[in-house]
Amino acid sequence: MIKQAIIPLAGLGTRLLPLTSVFPKELLPINGKPGIEYILDECIDAGVKEIIFIISKKKEMIRKYFNNDNFYKSIIKKKKDPRIIKEYKKILFYKKKIKYVYQNKPLGTGDAVLKTKKLIKNNYFLMLLPDDLIMKKNCSKDMVKIHKKYKASVMASMKVKKNNVDRWGIYSINKNYDKSNFKISDVIEKPNAEDAPSNNAVIGRYILPKKIFNYLKNQKKGKGNEIHITDAIRRMILDKNLFIGHKFKGNYLDCGSMNGYINSGIEISKI
Ligand code: UTP
Repeated sequence: MIKQAIIPLAGLGTRLLPLTSVFPKELLPINGKPGIEYILDECIDAGVKEIIFIISKKKEMIRKYFNNDNFYKSIIKKKKDPRIIKEYKKILFYKKKIKYVYQNKPLGTGDAVLKTKKLIKNNYFLMLLPDDLIMKKNCSKDMVKIHKKYKASVMASMKVKKNNVDRWGIYSINKNYDKSNFKISDVIEKPNAEDAPSNNAVIGRYILPKKIFNYLKNQKKGKGNEIHITDAIRRMILDKNLFIGHKFKGNYLDCGSMNGYINSGIEISKI
């Protein structure tokens, strides 16, 4: 069973500057609701009981958002507004499930994941990247089903434009199990268009094995001088660990770039 999820939130969010110079991007509203709440709803609906946030001292505001009880209590006492009471109950519901670890230097996603090592209890856990929203169909829930069927690691996949492959992790496919799921034979972080083995990209949903921490402990820096989770996954695949690519059915929205962020609000307002 997948009972725990981790969410890396310790990045700098430079593509959304100036919005992110003082404000964490994950709290920016998307159609009236902070982006992080869409991610929380997805993983709770997929059966996750505990969510580990990887934050940094610079992103304490995220912790404050879920731990602002005195403020809510004093407002509710004065106003007794049913809308505020409902919102506070929702925050309390999330709060009970969230734990925090710190990554104060953004050395890369691989380093962020390693910070959760002591808290992971079961053999597999879910990871969601909050820049990647997937609407209309719960991608995490579908990936949990695939994980149960194959007892393997699972990663979300989507076709991207061939001239855009250098923005993503890109898969080599070994064989197709069916029209939505394939066996991954390799994954390369941000390849040049000419080196890319396909245009099937890694999207920010992963079911990872606890064993990955052994690989992350000695993972060397890769592209952009960062420690990438993709590079550790690549070593696991080359060591014959089964990783399955899942072509998800929902609508993908990239909230990490300015155009993507603006568009996400528009698209979600139409749902
Ligand atoms: P990105 O590198 O795509 O986003 O990280 P970023 O660093 O936040 O933003 P830009 O690129 O400067 O605009 C993907 C996810 O991994 C987290 C980020 O918070 C984001 O959710 N991350 C990244 C970490 O937690 N730690 C890191 O060292 C790097």
